[in-house]
Parts: sequence; C-alpha cells; structure tokens
Amino acid sequence: MSIIEFKGVSKAFDSVKVLDGLDFKVEKGEILAIVGPSGTGKSVTLKHIVGLLDPDRGEVTVEGKPRIGYLFQSGALLAWLTVYENVALPLKETTRLKEDEIDRLVRDALKEVGLEDAAEKYPGEISGGMQKRAGLARAIVRKADIVLYDEPTSGLDPVTTITIHRLIKKLNRDHGITSIVVTHDIQGALHLADRIMLLKDGKAVETAKVDEFVHSANPAVQEFLTAMKGEIK
Ligand SMILES: Nc1ncnc2c1ncn2[C@@H]1O[C@H](COP(=O)(O)OP(=O)(O)OP(=O)(O)O)[C@@H](O)[C@H]1O
Ligand SMILES: [Mg+2]
Repeated sequence: MSIIEFKGVSKAFDSVKVLDGLDFKVEKGEILAIVGPSGTGKSVTLKHIVGLLDPDRGEVTVEGKPRIGYLFQSGALLAWLTVYENVALPLKETTRLKEDEIDRLVRDALKEVGLEDAAEKYPGEISGGMQKRAGLARAIVRKADIVLYDEPTSGLDPVTTITIHRLIKKLNRDHGITSIVVTHDIQGALHLADRIMLLKDGKAVETAKVDEFVHSANPAVQEFLTAMKGEIK
C-alpha cells in the first residue's frame, strides 16, 4: 500500500517552475532516497508532504492520518531547552502522559540514539551529529509513522555519517518507520535506501530499486552518478 503519493504535482515560485508534474509513490515501511542537483526542489517536495506547501496543480495524498516527523535541513532543536527537554517537548504538548511516563519514554529514546549522557546539555554544547541524533530521538518518542530527513548528514564527518545512516535504518526496521531521505551523499543513499529517486527539472526522471538505479540505462541517471563520483574523489 502506498502511504504517500504525488500525482502530477506542479509548484512554481514567482513564475519559476520548481516541480513540474511530479509523480511518485512511497510504500509503507520502505526507505526512499531522493537525490538530485541543488535547487531542484527536494526540500520543496518534503514540504508538500508535511503540508508546509500546497501544490499549484496535482495532488499529494498521505494515507490515513500518520504522524510525520521532519528532520529539517537547518536542524530544529530549541536552543534554550536541553536535549532532554527538546525530546520531551512533543510529549508534553500533545499527550496527557504523566511526568514519569514521559521520563521513561525520553530516557529510552535517548538511550536508543546513544545520547543518554547528553540529556542535560544544550544544543549549542553538542556536536552536529549529536543534534541530529536528538532529532531522531524526538521522532521515536512521537511514535512517528513517517520520518522525512532533509540532508540528515550534511556537514558531518564520514564516521558520524555512518552512525546516522545506521540509526535511520534501525528506526525503519525496529519501529517500522517509513522514511524519505533527501541527500547529496549518493554512496550513503545506495547503502541506506530500498529505492532511489532522481529529481531533475521538476520531475522524477528515475525511481528504482538501488541496484536497478545504478545500472539504469537512463542517461540522466548515469550523468548524475558520474558527476557525483567526481565530487567524491
Ligand atoms: N518558499 C519559497 N519561496 C520562493 N522560492 C522558494 C521557496 N522555497 C523554495 N524556493 C525555490 O525553489 C527552488 C527549489 O528549492 P529547494 O529548497 O527545494 O531545493 P533543494 O533541491 O532542496 O536544494 P538543496 O539541495 O540545495 O537543498 C529553489 O530555487 C528555491 O529558491
Ligand atoms: Mg534542500
């Protein structure tokens, strides 16, 4: 069953077309990576799923009423709250759980992402990788059905990048979280995702299983992979 579906979605800003008849589906429980050049509308696509943007044309459907977690490209921890308080915040605001139940959920989630010793620190006192992990802990406590990751590893070193990818995979496997990962890290995407979508000129020029994607006869895919190889070296 598709949990998310884009049907002919177009979106322009000041008459500049960003999405131009975008079609794709996301199946429940899968990890879809979205790759593509800068400014091609990857973040705009995610914003349509959370409802931060509406299409000019076409339709975005999200099956049922899933809880959606969104790891922003810019990061979104509140600087004046500790890691613990940041993770507890959605539970305090949206549930009637008792203090001790919240405490248990938050501690468990922090442990799951390896941040149990950083609970009392403020976002400004921890590394970028730890901030991302705090964002993941928040998705766990909210029992998110879908998590949208906008460049979850940008600015992180290779070792931390692998840690974050493992966590994304773990959340997907252990909590059944359907995941969309927007990334410039093509190697990471190949390891992480079930399927990859290349977004270019406002359209999904290819959406395929990882092994099919790398062997795709689509010239746009090969061009993209070659360009990325150049960047990796
Ligand atoms: N709210 C907005 N108002 C006007 N223009 C916007 C808005 N949001 C996005 N855009 C424009 O839409 C285009 C696509 O932006 P988007 O942020 O989706 O790119 P991206 O693929 O995520 O790029 P990157 O890889 O650099 O993050 C850009 O030209 C951007 O300037
Ligand atoms: Mg972006």
